[in-house]
Amino acid sequence: MGLFSFLTQEIAIDLGTANTIIIHNDKVVVDEPSIVALDQSTGKLLAIGTQARQMHGKTHENIKTIRPLRDGVIADFNAAEQMIRGMIKMINPKQKFFTPTLRMVVCIPSGSTEVEIRAVRDSSEHAGGRDVYMIYEPMAAAIGIGIDVEEPEGSMVVDIGGGTTEIAVIALGGIVCNQSIRIAGDGFTADIQAYMRHQHNIKIGERTAEDIKIEVGSALPDLDNPPPDYNVRGPNLMTAMPIEIPISYQEISHCLDKSLSKVESAIISVLEQTPPELYADIVSKGIYLAGGGALLRGLDKRLTDKINIPFHIAEDPLHAIARGTGIALKNVDKFSFLLR
Ligand SMILES: Nc1ncnc2c1ncn2[C@@H]1O[C@H](COP(=O)(O)OP(=O)(O)OP(=O)(O)O)[C@@H](O)[C@H]1O
Ligand SMILES: [Mg+2]
Repeated sequence: MGLFSFLTQEIAIDLGTANTIIIHNDKVVVDEPSIVALDQSTGKLLAIGTQARQMHGKTHENIKTIRPLRDGVIADFNAAEQMIRGMIKMINPKQKFFTPTLRMVVCIPSGSTEVEIRAVRDSSEHAGGRDVYMIYEPMAAAIGIGIDVEEPEGSMVVDIGGGTTEIAVIALGGIVCNQSIRIAGDGFTADIQAYMRHQHNIKIGERTAEDIKIEVGSALPDLDNPPPDYNVRGPNLMTAMPIEIPISYQEISHCLDKSLSKVESAIISVLEQTPPELYADIVSKGIYLAGGGALLRGLDKRLTDKINIPFHIAEDPLHAIARGTGIALKNVDKFSFLLR
């Protein structure tokens, strides 16, 4: 470590719709939900991350909670900037008087438009980034999974995040073909919310729906290790009286079926566009799943059965993209596919 190394700090950021992860010196130093709480009248930042998430859906007129990203891209520029700034501060909370210069790599969805890329760059610069590089998320995911992305060999990565599902074929350090659809974890959560309303006449919030997804979420109606039913409480839509309903994973698998079919179709359509030589590589190696959605019970099996190519879940899928972004950060000079 050089004498002045404390003056510059190198960080990698996975700015996700659901979670933001920051890596510094190969370690995850921030892992927080992407959400902020602001004072309605002054616009002052009240809380970030987990603390703000606890307020989500429980605020009164003076406080509002905002998820600055929607569908993988920045939807609220001011909130995004405050969030990035606040999360960077979490790395070294003791440094009050002086902020080091930041060199950072941030990952962006592969379907980003110029305007969306600009928004990420501007927010990062406003939050203190001096050298800001960007990397496409599927590329970061592949690196994080441990694929040698510069080999003349095809690999397919499917990253199911909160806002988007990114499907890409990578070879020779580039994305050969890809598709980004706005159906992912948030969509599954919304499906559950709608299902509970229609099927059980019970009104639940986003957080409860997400809890159901994590406790009894399933991509298959028949699991080898089924989770026990999950009791959901809430007001009856007709009477406003409290009710409690046990929910089984089978029900949730039916309720998610439509969205999962769309993910399958998108994967098949990317396979259709894949050049035959690369296709053969993918069939022999299998397809890698990353992002929080990869943790949905039975998803790997469902996709393997449906598409007839083995699907592998990345190690620690929630951190794979950040891990890859961190590796890119250390190789900024070597990786030509980084955007600047
Ligand atoms: N065990 C689980 N089962 C099903 N879904 C899960 C599980 N754990 C987390 N998730 C979902 O994964 C999603 C978050 O994944 P991730 O952190 O990869 O998204 P993100 O990177 O923030 O979003 P994006 O990449 O779309 O911007 C959330 O929708 C969350 O509900
Ligand atoms: Mg992501």
